[in-house]
Amino acid sequence: MNQDQLKQAVAKAAIDYILPHLEPRSIIGVGTGSTANFFIDLLAEHKYDFAGAVASSEATAERLKQHGISVHNLNSVQELEFYVDGADECNKHLELIKGGGAALTREKIVAAVAKTFICIADDSKKVAVLGEFPLPVEVIPMARSYVARELLKLGGDPVYRTGVVTDNGNVILDLHNMQITDPRGLEEQINAITGVVCSGLFAQRPADVLLIGSKNGVETLV
Ligand code: 5RP
Repeated sequence: MNQDQLKQAVAKAAIDYILPHLEPRSIIGVGTGSTANFFIDLLAEHKYDFAGAVASSEATAERLKQHGISVHNLNSVQELEFYVDGADECNKHLELIKGGGAALTREKIVAAVAKTFICIADDSKKVAVLGEFPLPVEVIPMARSYVARELLKLGGDPVYRTGVVTDNGNVILDLHNMQITDPRGLEEQINAITGVVCSGLFAQRPADVLLIGSKNGVETLV
């Protein structure tokens, strides 16, 4: 199986996970990226079984609408049973690095609201220690250089992701060369830097369910 087939398999596993719980009034949180896109395409086959979705990015909103799935403003949603999204890295504690697609802030907001965050990933994303994938940090543009200097003090090498503006009008610094042995602590430290909007570390609110696809099938971690 190639990587896309593994992504498709975990997307299908997420559908199987949520399907028995869907009700006509259910709204589902939907993530961003290629794995999430496979999920959206499969979700569309069940679009008459639920009320709609909240999107974690403009790109996801567009794809959902193309499938005829109604997209809701998070502020008008009372309850989000599930949030389904991919990850750039995950560990056995269900802590994640996300934001390779620059959607980290909205992803973190939707994850915060959801009762159950289901992360779907192929097994290339599973690591013992987070940090091989550069950690994305969304930053207010005028604070970019200051935040970069502060991130340097934490021991990493921040690199400005040129040409990228987030859906929120901000920029991204990717923090390279970090061995993240204390994800919750680092998330707290980065959050405390003035000018940081959000980091791509999902440790204070990790996934609740991690579906990992490998050539041996889909493994479920909770
Ligand atoms: C986007 C994300 C994605 O979930 C992450 O980049 C994984 O993407 P893919 O499913 O394409 O490998 O966090 O901001």
